[in-house]
Amino acid sequence: MKISGTGSVLPSKVVTNDMLSQFLDTSDEWITTRTGVKSRHVISDERLEDMAIEAARKALEDAGLRAEELDFIICSNVVNEYVTPQLSCIIQGGIGASCPCIDINCACAGFIHALEMAESFYKAGRVKNVLVVCAEEPTRMTDWNDRRTCVLFGDGAGAAVLTPGDNIKSIKLSASSSTDKLWQYRLLHPTPYVTKEEVDVPLQMKGQDVFKFAVKAASKDITRTLKETGLQADDVDHYLLHQANIRIINAIQDYLEQPAEKFPTNIEDHGNSSSSCCPILLDECSRNGLLKRGDIIAMSAFGAGFVSGAVLFEW
Ligand code: ACO
Repeated sequence: MKISGTGSVLPSKVVTNDMLSQFLDTSDEWITTRTGVKSRHVISDERLEDMAIEAARKALEDAGLRAEELDFIICSNVVNEYVTPQLSCIIQGGIGASCPCIDINCACAGFIHALEMAESFYKAGRVKNVLVVCAEEPTRMTDWNDRRTCVLFGDGAGAAVLTPGDNIKSIKLSASSSTDKLWQYRLLHPTPYVTKEEVDVPLQMKGQDVFKFAVKAASKDITRTLKETGLQADDVDHYLLHQANIRIINAIQDYLEQPAEKFPTNIEDHGNSSSSCCPILLDECSRNGLLKRGDIIAMSAFGAGFVSGAVLFEW
């Protein structure tokens, strides 16, 4: 398969570090130097499903495809207002498609997991055109009194349209169960039978553990994709990495011994929008003319689970 079109949408509300320091014990200096984030787009009155539908429409337009021509929709999402129906079905109706669809929750690595699933459908000869949409609102998962987590995130939706081709060179996924480093509990409705104690806990994160996992997993995943294709790190034109922390991106860059120009970022004014980071960054790099036909791109993401993945593809 190949990526034939991309689209993205950000919420209109921009929250700067200075705005956060008005109600949190934090500062622009701390957030900027420790994370690289200066501001982020935060959902206020928008609905995530509308953003997802709009991102999907943009990607279809970019690919020159009609929604009726889609054979499958995969949506990556951690939370949204609906528990059911699944977001992919809402997107399907919103864009006017009629194909089957499925949601996945692989946290920040969702886009790469979706690509791996789609690639398997292509290899099985079951699809021609596939839509992947990542739509996330992690700012609704965090405690906005917790300076260790809420400063990191932003919201957004990114989409990609896949069509037949042989541009995907290698995809590697990995998982290693760890439920005490990055997690959240939600409270379900009570029943007459549940007597155990249940709690509603916003996103909890052991930042340094996540940091170490992220650098190690991304370095390993990218190296595995290079090894499988026989390419060297120098052969890659652009490294599009999950935008979790600029220091994580810098550490991966050091490991790969590659110049900073190969690592475009948008973390400065987007923050971490979970699985939407990768397709949003891809869409922005495509639309601003950075990506040239034939360029080799390595994309890598990691997140709660822990899960991670990397994909090496030709643009
Ligand atoms: N403003 C000011 N001070 C802060 C803030 C803040 N926003 N947040 C934490 N601090 C304080 C801490 O309380 C601590 O103070 P103390 O020493 O008095 O206890 C001090 O700063 C250092 O805290 P650390 O947690 O050690 O800071 P660290 O340098 O590790 O940076 C960070 C924290 C930014 C969270 C970093 O660990 C990180 O980026 N980790 C990875 C996060 C990540 O990638 N998460 C993924 C999110 S989900 C996903 O993408 C799947």
